[in-house]
Amino acid sequence: MTSTTAIGIDIGGTGIKGGVVDLESGELISDRIKLPTPKGGEPDEVIEVTREVLDTLTGGDPKDPVGVCFPAIVKGGRTLSAANVSKKWIGLEAEKKFEKALERDIHFVNDADAAGYAETTFGAAKGIDGLVLLTTLGTGIGSALIYNGVLVPNAELGHLEIDGHDAESKAAYSAKEREDLDWAHWAKRLNRYYGWLEFLFTPDLFVIGGGVSKNWDEFAHYLDLKTKAVPATYRNNAGILGAAALAANDPRTDRR
Ligand code: BGC
Repeated sequence: MTSTTAIGIDIGGTGIKGGVVDLESGELISDRIKLPTPKGGEPDEVIEVTREVLDTLTGGDPKDPVGVCFPAIVKGGRTLSAANVSKKWIGLEAEKKFEKALERDIHFVNDADAAGYAETTFGAAKGIDGLVLLTTLGTGIGSALIYNGVLVPNAELGHLEIDGHDAESKAAYSAKEREDLDWAHWAKRLNRYYGWLEFLFTPDLFVIGGGVSKNWDEFAHYLDLKTKAVPATYRNNAGILGAAALAANDPRTDRR
């Protein structure tokens, strides 16, 4: 039977967030639980905090499918990169480790891909023909490439080299905070970044997500792009929603 609710957990460089999602509406139907990501982002500690988030949401007895999204390339259940977490994740059988600790099968996916899936299914990219590039501006820059509604997984466009720098090191929201940039100054960097994406991909729409999408009105008017750009409908909850929706569609995830 297809579930009508599912649980999504979004692991980020600074926080691990989770919620129960109504899959008809895409809305969160529980409190949004958020715990800090352990310093250093070591696998065992991150997995332990993920278990705490899940237990808090379900009282230790999850009946719904569980999806977990993570800030790295995820292929065949393995994490193949680690930009803002411990290097120990590189090559790790992460999905299996989570499944062991959470005592159930889960759906495991890149965080920006989860957000892209949520926005395509429920939000700003729903029904859009052509190429949508979703980016999340947070600790790093996540990206999802969606063509005619189909997600092409593991696009890592936050790591394009621009002017000799890894793009996310200059244009992520964390760079604004670290360097104490005002909105105008940070938006100049966004224009450089999105301008380069425009040149490379000629997209039809940019969807801009991540925590800072709640401040959309502060920086949107500085964006000077040929392509239409909109904020993610589900803002910083898109990863939770997408992970939950993907888990519900995965016949392998546990339902009890
Ligand atoms: C990682 C991506 C991730 C993004 C957002 C980047 O540093 O390489 O895999 O999607 O951060 O968390």
